[in-house]
Amino acid sequence: MQLVKVDNYEEMSKKACSIIMEHIQENRNPVIGLATGSTPEKLYSCLIDEYKQGKVSFENVTTFNLDEYVGLKKDDANSYHHYMKEKLFDHVGLGVDQVHLPDGHSEDLEQDCLTYEKQIEEAGGIDIQVLGLGLNGHIGFNEPGTPFSSRTHVVELSPSTRSANARFFSSIEEVPTQAISMGIASIMASKKILLLVSGKQKAEALHRLLNSELTEDFPASILQTHPDVTIIADELALEASL
Ligand code: F6R
Repeated sequence: MQLVKVDNYEEMSKKACSIIMEHIQENRNPVIGLATGSTPEKLYSCLIDEYKQGKVSFENVTTFNLDEYVGLKKDDANSYHHYMKEKLFDHVGLGVDQVHLPDGHSEDLEQDCLTYEKQIEEAGGIDIQVLGLGLNGHIGFNEPGTPFSSRTHVVELSPSTRSANARFFSSIEEVPTQAISMGIASIMASKKILLLVSGKQKAEALHRLLNSELTEDFPASILQTHPDVTIIADELALEASL
């Protein structure tokens, strides 16, 4: 794992933005894996700025998101479909045929998981997967205890994840109890992984990632075994590790 230390959230976002831009500029059909949540918000606004300045085109880009809540319609303000449209897709000309998210409102969730895996495979696999880090070490929505061999699957969200995400909903009861997430093996199949970590609240999780042994109790620990992981972390997140 390569650790890039930056001063703050802004720097982390800019660094991630330049890595992704470079990949898009240098590849004919880039396939980018995306995350939601607070962490990548500024990365997406940076990509939008670069696009508006004509420095990058998303014409040949294909994207796959890590996850989606089960039970929310695509246009629900809290769905990840909605988040992605609002924070990136609609501003950089990424059309519906280029972007993919699991369908959390599907009649047949299990089938949707298989279809998702197939779509990733048909796109040639993910070149760069952007990840945030859960407080409990989750990546995607793969909670502690998820087998490292897992592929896209339906997951039960842990109380800690539901309460961390309650800030986006009017009450914790409204936070879905399930999600569809790429599995750990699906994430690990990405050619490159970009893990973004910012803020004091992530310090403990990052410290554990950098120091813990490989264990399914801390899903992010698997990243230690990936051949090409770049962690971009800011000072506050690194507080406990320096
Ligand atoms: C989001 C995702 C999650 C988040 C993680 C951190 O698509 O898969 O693993 O990356 O929960 O969330 P934030 O960035 O909100 O702290």
